[in-house]
Amino acid sequence: MTTTAEYRLKTPLREAYADSPLLDDVARRATRYLSEIDERRVFPSRDAVAALSAFDVPLQEHQIAAGEVVDELDRLASAATTAIAGPRFFGFVNGSGLPAAVAANWLSTAWAQHGGFWVLSPSGAKIEQVALRWTIELLGLPAESAGAFVTGTTMAHVTGLAAARSSLLAQVGWDVEADGLFGAPPITVIVGAEAHPSVFKALGIIGMGRDRVITVPVDSQGRIRADSLPEITGPSIVCLQAGNVNTGAFDPFREIATRVKASRAPIWIHVDGAFGLWARVAPARAHLADGIELADSWATDGHKWLNTPYDCGIAVVREGQALRRAMATSAAYLPSGAEQANLCDYTPEMSRRPRGVDVWAVLRSLGRSGLAELVERNCRLARRFADAFAAEGFPVWNDVVLNQVLVSFGDPERTRTVIAAIQEDGTCWCGVTVWQGKTAMRVSVISWATTEADVDRSVDAILRIARRTS
Ligand SMILES: Cc1ncc(COP(=O)(O)O)c(C=O)c1O
Repeated sequence: MTTTAEYRLKTPLREAYADSPLLDDVARRATRYLSEIDERRVFPSRDAVAALSAFDVPLQEHQIAAGEVVDELDRLASAATTAIAGPRFFGFVNGSGLPAAVAANWLSTAWAQHGGFWVLSPSGAKIEQVALRWTIELLGLPAESAGAFVTGTTMAHVTGLAAARSSLLAQVGWDVEADGLFGAPPITVIVGAEAHPSVFKALGIIGMGRDRVITVPVDSQGRIRADSLPEITGPSIVCLQAGNVNTGAFDPFREIATRVKASRAPIWIHVDGAFGLWARVAPARAHLADGIELADSWATDGHKWLNTPYDCGIAVVREGQALRRAMATSAAYLPSGAEQANLCDYTPEMSRRPRGVDVWAVLRSLGRSGLAELVERNCRLARRFADAFAAEGFPVWNDVVLNQVLVSFGDPERTRTVIAAIQEDGTCWCGVTVWQGKTAMRVSVISWATTEADVDRSVDAILRIARRTS
């Protein structure tokens, strides 16, 4: 066992690992954490959170053995984690790590690969290319598309919208990469009234402006009303949504794409499909995303429905040249990519881990049928929640077409009180939202680990708390 006294930067690499139980010890700790997660509170106790103050120490002068560092991390931090990796976290939209992906993630971390240049990781580049091809095939997107593994859907928006900007402006004779946006011909940006905040963040980052948008009215589920789209007269980006974060609803892609592409102006359709894009893989849900293949770029997450560990997003862009124009760079000391594609020519980052390895592991492990079953099962479990709430007389505000459920427990104050009590109880965790003026609890079912028993146990806790809160 390596001790504090022995551990020095000059320790040979061979000894740092071969003669040390460090990584075995980490595997044991992580295995214990995950195998006990079912029995612990979903949100940590106040005491566990308070104990985090033990981290507030001045940085010491001397070195500390790696094993001791990990021990400190586990002792102080593991108990104060939110059990997103467990089966009863229904907040936001967070997948748990699928075992094959967690394990592949660890192995590829040990490789310390740079996913940007082929020469820095032939394996990473190969596996990411395969994972991207499988993703494009599974989602039924145009086979000629290029893509990028990024940190999440927000960065996938940035990636897709940067390609959109490049393509649309090139079509009207402007080189945005060289000359920037000052003085450029304007691009109209059209969004639905229930677009996710990440779309506006991305629009702001790429210089399109968060507020410089035309907002189209939506229906009670958050779907764009196609008949309310503005007339398109010049270069335009239309941002559509597959899976509203509150209701799970989908914009009518085919109708919108047909309408806007009938104009003679340069048009780019970008889809926010952070989780909803994966409805395409489940035969009974695929109709929700009908026509999505008519778009030009798509943003989705690995860390939602694919259940990769954080962080993992995927951008897919039909016009690979536009993406490459927006992202590629060169310098004498950098590999040119003349013989092997360098993936950093397609991503905003230059250095990054090859996170597509995690996507590859999920797809390899589940196969087509396993992934379809994961999506379908989560949707069935969301329905199970909704039926239980409705049977008790609590109104469900959305059509439960996917994996999202919105329920209220009375007036806004009572609903918020019930949600706070559910979070405090610790059996499960659900968040609050306001949907078109109505305060509601959001239930998002997206973990591979959630079973019917988890839903029933959560429903029992939720209804017990809702009944006693008047
Ligand atoms: C519909 C939708 N779009 C975008 C995002 C942002 O994704 P990320 O946090 O991976 O950037 C989310 C996250 O919940 C989402 O639900």
